[in-house]
Order: sequence, then C-alpha cells, then structure tokens
Amino acid sequence: MVDVAQLVEPRLVMPVVAGSSPVVHPICIAHIEELYCLGYIDEGSSMFKDYNLTNISIPLKVLFTSYLCVVGIGYIMATAQILFTHGMADGKFGLSIDDIVYSYYGNRSGTVLENKLDGSMKENASDADRLAIIKWVHVGADEVSFKQRGINTIFENNCLACHSTEAGMGLPDFSHFETIKNYAQVDTGASFSSLTRVSHIHLFGISFIFFFVGLIFVMATHVSTLLKSLAVSMPFVSQLMDISSWWLTKLDPMFAWVVIIGGTGMGIAFAFMWVVSIYEMWLMPHDDG
Ligand code: HEC
Repeated sequence: MVDVAQLVEPRLVMPVVAGSSPVVHPICIAHIEELYCLGYIDEGSSMFKDYNLTNISIPLKVLFTSYLCVVGIGYIMATAQILFTHGMADGKFGLSIDDIVYSYYGNRSGTVLENKLDGSMKENASDADRLAIIKWVHVGADEVSFKQRGINTIFENNCLACHSTEAGMGLPDFSHFETIKNYAQVDTGASFSSLTRVSHIHLFGISFIFFFVGLIFVMATHVSTLLKSLAVSMPFVSQLMDISSWWLTKLDPMFAWVVIIGGTGMGIAFAFMWVVSIYEMWLMPHDDG
C-alpha cells in the first residue's frame, strides 16, 4: 500500500485557502512526477536540460540540419516567387511600395487586364498585341468587338497556353469570354476570397515552419534567454503584422509599408535562427553547459 506521506512528499503542494492545511492533488503529483522522471522539469532548468545544439547526437544534428536546409531553400523560393508576382506588379523588377499597393489595393487607374499586361504579363505578348487588347478594353470590352478586332486570336495565340483548364496551372481560364470580361474591370487588388485563402494557408503553414525552426534554435547555448525569446517570437508577431496589413492595405494603401516591415522582420529572425543553429551544431566545440 502506498503511504500517504510518500504521496505528499513530492514538490507540488497547493494551499487552498490561506491558513488552511495544504492540499495536494494526487493527479497533479502523478503528472509532475512523470515530467521529472522524463527530465522535462528540474529546478531552474529548461526542457532540454542536458542537451544543446553542440552535444546532441550526430543523427539528430543531421535531422535538424536537413530540415533547416529544406525550409531554407523553401524560404529562398518563396522570396523569388514574391519577386516574380508581387515584385512585377508595377512592371519593374524588385519589390516596391507600389507593388504592394497594386497587389492588395489595386491600381485603380486601370483594369486588371491592362495592369497585368503592363506588369507581370508583359513578356507574354508583343507590344502591338498588348496595345490592341488595351484599346479594346478602353472601347468597352464587349463581346462583338472582341471578335471583330481579333482580340480572341491574340488570346488564343498568347495566353491560353497557360490560362486554360487544359494547361492545369490553376489560372483564370481565358477560353471563356466571361472570364476575360471580369478582368476588364477596374483593378481593386486582391479579392477578399483570395485574401482569406492565402491568409489561412500562411497562418497555418508559416507557424508550423517557425515552430520547428524555433524549437531547434532554443537549444542553442550561446544566446541569452532574452535574445532567444525575442528571436522565437518575432516571426509570429511579424506574420500577424504581415497578414493583417494585407487586409488593411486592401482598405487603405498607406498600410503597404507594414507589409514590408512584417516580411523583413520574419526574414531577419529566420536568417538569425538558421545561422546560429547550423553554426552551433557543426562549428562549435562540444559543450555540456
Ligand atoms: C507562361 C504562362 C502564362 C502566359 C502565356 C500568360 N500568363 Fe497570365 N498569368 C500567368 C501566371 C503564372 C499568373 C499568376 C501570377 C501573376 O499574377 O503574375 C498570371 C496571371 C494573369 C492575370 C491575373 C489573374 C488574377 O487572378 O489576378 C491576368 C489578367 C493575366 N495573367 C493575363 C494574361 C494575358 C492577357 C495573357 C496573354 C497575353 C497571359 N496572361 C499569358 C501565366 C501566364
């Protein structure tokens, strides 16, 4: 039989009312004991008490490094993707405030079709063809002149290779006049439905990536608790800033700069955690703290 004194002996004691005798909940004791045994809790130490990036086993280092390399490449690809889509929104390479305003608020001086033909779709048609499409948009973009002016053939020859169901690229299908017509309206930027879609994918996906990058990084030995806490929380804060500013920019272009700050903050935190983690695992001498 288990002695009561033995049960009460461990560390967790909860006084219920000040002055009354202390009460210990048996479930708490069992649970806390388990955590002590597993080495998760110990007075004044962290979850990874005896482990840090310099002294973990080689297979674990290889696992962490492989993960970091793949998400690192993913990050570079994501940046390239931003440069090629949003970065080209104003027709010039490189990300600017204009690009962000055009992407989320829209370039309200023109239609989506015109803006794309002057921006990221510029390379897909000759100047003459682009001009013909833009003129057609200006005369009202109706179906009769679509055929009369030969705009249908321009689309067939230059756009359907990517913009059709057969191409399977998930792009708007320009083999239907109605779809083209929708893009010949004033450009109000990203639609609310596309914003909700992209926002939820980013919130789930990016937090997942930063959870693991952060978990690896907190095992670093030569970074202060304050700096560690800042570095692991910064991507989450930046991400919230970034995503909320997409929505705010849709309402008012002045928020475009928050998109840049959010994105930069995330990039800096990622690069810092990545470099420190790799450096400690492979270049620092074994250190048992
Ligand atoms: C090589 C493939 C390719 C060709 C050819 C192409 N596009 Fe695109 N188009 C894309 C991609 C990829 C996107 C999405 C990225 C972006 O917006 O830049 C896109 C986006 C667009 C959009 C914006 C769609 C949206 O939902 O916001 C318009 C409008 C557009 N293209 C028009 C055209 C026109 C007009 C042509 C023909 C002159 C054309 N595209 C030819 C690949 C192509």
